Amino acid sequence: MQFEDFYKVRRNAERYERERFSSVGGREVDRVEQEAVFSFISSLKASGRVMDLGCGTGRITSELVRRGFRRVVGIDVSDAMLAEAKKHVKGAEFIRSSMFSLPELGTFDACVSVRVIHHLRYADMKRAFIQIRRVLKDGAVFVFDTNRAFSPNAVTKLANLSGRLSYNQFTCDKTVMKLLMDCGFSVQMVERRFLIPSFMLNASGPLAARAAGINRLLERRLPLLCASTFWKARAAK
Ligand SMILES: C[S@@+](CC[C@H](N)C(=O)[O-])C[C@H]1O[C@@H](n2cnc3c(N)ncnc32)[C@H](O)[C@@H]1O
Repeated sequence: MQFEDFYKVRRNAERYERERFSSVGGREVDRVEQEAVFSFISSLKASGRVMDLGCGTGRITSELVRRGFRRVVGIDVSDAMLAEAKKHVKGAEFIRSSMFSLPELGTFDACVSVRVIHHLRYADMKRAFIQIRRVLKDGAVFVFDTNRAFSPNAVTKLANLSGRLSYNQFTCDKTVMKLLMDCGFSVQMVERRFLIPSFMLNASGPLAARAAGINRLLERRLPLLCASTFWKARAAK
């Protein structure tokens, strides 16, 4: 199923957080992602206006609100995901829109987009980057992640074969970097985080806790085997 349609299905939206982030492994993944994203915007002032693009159920939006930013806007194309977000995130504006045609909402000091960009094919990634640059102030920050699992193409092909949800085929860092620059960004930081396979993180009892501990130890030490790449780009002046 195409990325844009998958999360419009109510059942997929309702199960999103429970399926991905409620187990020991899921909580570890959530911690790694939140830490990476928020370390990249740690210098952003509370007076900042922040957009969470592809905000889904508001997992990242709620932390942006908690940090007290002046304006937090969650954008998503799926009514079903936004309905979940509105249930538990107060203090953010939620707007249904495609990232390929963002509405006029004023300009932002930062855009975060987690678990979104790595689903996009090249042409769509370009369309999204152009829109994001348009809504950011000069010098504003764009933070997002891409997958770079053990063998990107093998993993994405397998995921695509499973038929549940499509991922792009190329997540090649050099291509992403060039595309960012072509769309008016400079790349400030690229950080890879290793995650041990989730079946180990989700093993029962003490083994899972141990696996989570090992993950913490290895997280920044095995860049070649990383599972996620986090990007911090800046809108060029
Ligand atoms: C994997 S979820 C990520 C949700 C959230 N960012 C998180 O990290 O938990 C991807 C989200 O992107 C949204 N999405 C897909 N295509 C989109 C588009 N063209 N414009 C805006 N959002 C889109 C989906 O509806 C879904 O909510």
